[in-house]
Amino acid sequence: MTEVFQPPKPPYAVYSGIGKLTPSDYWTYFRAMRRNPLEVWGEHHFRIRIAPFRFLGRSSLIVNDPDAIHHCFVSRSGNYGMNPLRQAVLRPFLRDGLLTAEGEVWKTARKAVSPVFTPRRVNAFAPQIRTISEDAADAFAAVDGRVVPVSRAMVDLTLDVLIETLFSGDEALDKAAFTQGIHKLLEISGIPHPFDLLHLPGWIPRPGQGRSRKVIAGLRRQVAAVAAVRRAAPAPDRAGRPADFLDLLLGAGLDDTAVTDNLLTFLAAGHETTARSLAWTLYLLSRAGEVRTRLETEIDAAPLDDCDPAAWAGLLPWTEAVIKESLRLYPSAPMLARTSKERDIVAGLPVPAGTDVLVSTWLLHRQRDIWAEPDAFRPERFHGENATAIPRDAYLPFGLGPRVCIGARFAMMEMVIVLACLLRKVRFDYAGERDPRPVMRITLQPDNAVPMRVSARKG
Ligand code: HEM
Repeated sequence: MTEVFQPPKPPYAVYSGIGKLTPSDYWTYFRAMRRNPLEVWGEHHFRIRIAPFRFLGRSSLIVNDPDAIHHCFVSRSGNYGMNPLRQAVLRPFLRDGLLTAEGEVWKTARKAVSPVFTPRRVNAFAPQIRTISEDAADAFAAVDGRVVPVSRAMVDLTLDVLIETLFSGDEALDKAAFTQGIHKLLEISGIPHPFDLLHLPGWIPRPGQGRSRKVIAGLRRQVAAVAAVRRAAPAPDRAGRPADFLDLLLGAGLDDTAVTDNLLTFLAAGHETTARSLAWTLYLLSRAGEVRTRLETEIDAAPLDDCDPAAWAGLLPWTEAVIKESLRLYPSAPMLARTSKERDIVAGLPVPAGTDVLVSTWLLHRQRDIWAEPDAFRPERFHGENATAIPRDAYLPFGLGPRVCIGARFAMMEMVIVLACLLRKVRFDYAGERDPRPVMRITLQPDNAVPMRVSARKG
């Protein structure tokens, strides 16, 4: 492999010192948090294993050290609860869904929901994902030669997958209205409110939040209504269809509110994350010709049509390595944040109760002393034997510990199927005037529509 692509990243922040912030540093930090939290990081953050800092009287610890991460998220996970800033953004929508529930409520929900994500259950969704992906590939092939906004197209595709696997075309759902609600929510949410950044108490009303509250209430009503219809008349003319997430959650013994919270959680946690990863992957491939040629050769040679799509990853190791490298460079869930309940010692440093422990996978995945050529796109790191050289807990696109992503298997399977179906039929070439820059909202997004020229590969 001769050509190595160095994909875009935001500029480093410049601080006057390390650890102790001056008023101008505060301003740099606050501005970046509002504009693009990736711009908070200075060059030194990519070298430091552990960095304590204080902002407006609150202690934080940036942790890039795999052993220290393991300590906080696995060995002593009980001492680290969900971070209040993240909860302020997500809880109004997801309430006691798995992503935002805490304590006993979370434990009960995780136990109830786990059987929904067994390999057997997840694999059963593969044919539906393939059908949707083949349709999308045909639609792209039909606009041969045109430039399409790939970021939006992937949002639409993964939303179709989730709506199908959540509700399998249930007529009680007005899909157009629901899709519109989700798109509205994506437009208006995802940035922490300035009052939350300033740690103002939750009872103070947040100006400008009325609109998102209205959209959220509408989505909740729609999901609750579909769930109620299904509960009252389970599986009427649904013979032949595999169980969808709604069937599985109703069968797991959750009450109506918990079913709604978790359906919306699967949507929120599984939709944009997967869409962004796919868009970044297509962009990276278009910029790295040799990597793409190798991927196309692999996909063309694999006997995909003779095999259950759930097993495609086993036939496509290079494709899987490309996805993993894309998730390293652009982890679509870029921040794992917790807050300590009691005093602790982490990597020899005292951590008072109430400290925010911040694991930025953006930083971790580019640490200078962990990764060779950390900013370069090199899928071979994850290919074959090479993958065994990656240190434990240095690569965490799906998190770790008891709260590791429950949908990781689903997401990886989906991305392999989508890429295989699309790239068998079409090729995407980046057509923007400048490269997309990564921006952190809740997910790590490209700051443009990722315009790509589509060309059909096969009939
Ligand atoms: C590329 C796609 C995805 C990425 C990068 C991703 C990443 C993550 C990460 C990092 C976490 C842990 C968050 C933390 O510890 O604070 C998480 C949790 C979670 N994810 Fe995913 N996810 C993806 C797709 C999915 C899908 C497809 C689903 C469901 C269909 C899903 C459902 C969840 C849920 C329910 C949790 C909360 C688990 C818990 O707290 O018990 N995710 N995800």
